[in-house]
Amino acid sequence: MNQPATLVNSWNEWDPLREIVVGIADGACFEPTEPGYRPELRGSGGAFPTGPKPAEMIDRANAQLDGLADLLRSCGVTVRRPEPYDLSAPLRTPTFEVANQYCVVCPRDVMITLGNEIVEATMSRRARYFEYLAYRKLVYEYWDNDPGMVWTVAPKPSMADGMYRQEFWDWPLAKRHREMHSSEFCVTQDEVVFDAADISRFGRDLVVQESMTTNRAGIRWLKRHLEPRGFRVHPVHFPLDFFPSHIDCTFVPLRPGLVLTNPERPLREGEEQMFLRNGWELVEAPQPTTGNDEMPRYCQSSKWLSMNVLSVSPTQVICEEREAPLHELLDKLGFEVLTVPFRDVFEYGGSLHCATWDVNRAGTAEDYFADGYRPLTAGRQAGV
Ligand code: ARG
Repeated sequence: MNQPATLVNSWNEWDPLREIVVGIADGACFEPTEPGYRPELRGSGGAFPTGPKPAEMIDRANAQLDGLADLLRSCGVTVRRPEPYDLSAPLRTPTFEVANQYCVVCPRDVMITLGNEIVEATMSRRARYFEYLAYRKLVYEYWDNDPGMVWTVAPKPSMADGMYRQEFWDWPLAKRHREMHSSEFCVTQDEVVFDAADISRFGRDLVVQESMTTNRAGIRWLKRHLEPRGFRVHPVHFPLDFFPSHIDCTFVPLRPGLVLTNPERPLREGEEQMFLRNGWELVEAPQPTTGNDEMPRYCQSSKWLSMNVLSVSPTQVICEEREAPLHELLDKLGFEVLTVPFRDVFEYGGSLHCATWDVNRAGTAEDYFADGYRPLTAGRQAGV
């Protein structure tokens, strides 16, 4: 008799990759202005465009996404793609309206594999509320064929006006500086809110960034849902990132004992202890080859997309082709560096890690912090 297949299994960001979903740009729209987001043009200013992105922009992004998919296949990885759906129409729910949806380029933001469980995040922005739909056919396939797979949909927030702190967008820099330790951003604390990309997986330990896209109620939900299943959830903060969203340009684990860190976004003092005490090394990424001012015109992410790398295994990492200083560092650290062009995807919210969602990596639930879980001190934990 055939053994039932284990299709869903991924415990960390680095174990040998077996199956992954790579996003697609089909149907992508410009992200609309909404209470949780204010896109801005780079360079000369002017109004941010609305509605569907031009076909040639979409084709360029798709060519690079396909290039990544080919490279992954050449490494023996099974590559799956989401299903495009119409994102261009205005959306109206009982609690909010928005001019159009966004895109399905960054599965990382929406979906996460935690061991044998797939979690669909609540999301934090209106234009991304229904993005999970693009992955439902795949999720049903995993659910139908892997009896051990657990499927969890996190509670959807209202995304009503009251969920947001709209003044956030108008705060002057001095105020942002004063507020940097308060972790109060554009989303209030009243509802459970998180994007999947604020979580980084280290086996039994999950590191979750408090951000514009993940609030304290969201982290509380993750803790209450996951800790009885054997995970330990550690909130982390990067006080110098005034617009934090998604942890994978800030704190990127590459193999057991090694995290690539962002030199401009140090961890809140004390939060590095869990790593250092357990023999982990935090290595700063080099400056990106492209300054913030030279990033693609519609790109809302920072130059630190440079460190948004994707691990094929603990010894093999895929990097954007122009990031030579990072290639050198990784080479020195003992990695084989594979490269692909990916700049044309930057305007869709991310780079190589963002544009993917690993569903299967070899390996099991390891404890990489074996000297024991030390809860955060009462003072620091009080907020969460
Ligand atoms: N906020 C990040 C930065 O600009 C970009 C994060 C992109 N990550 C993602 N999963 N979409 O540095």
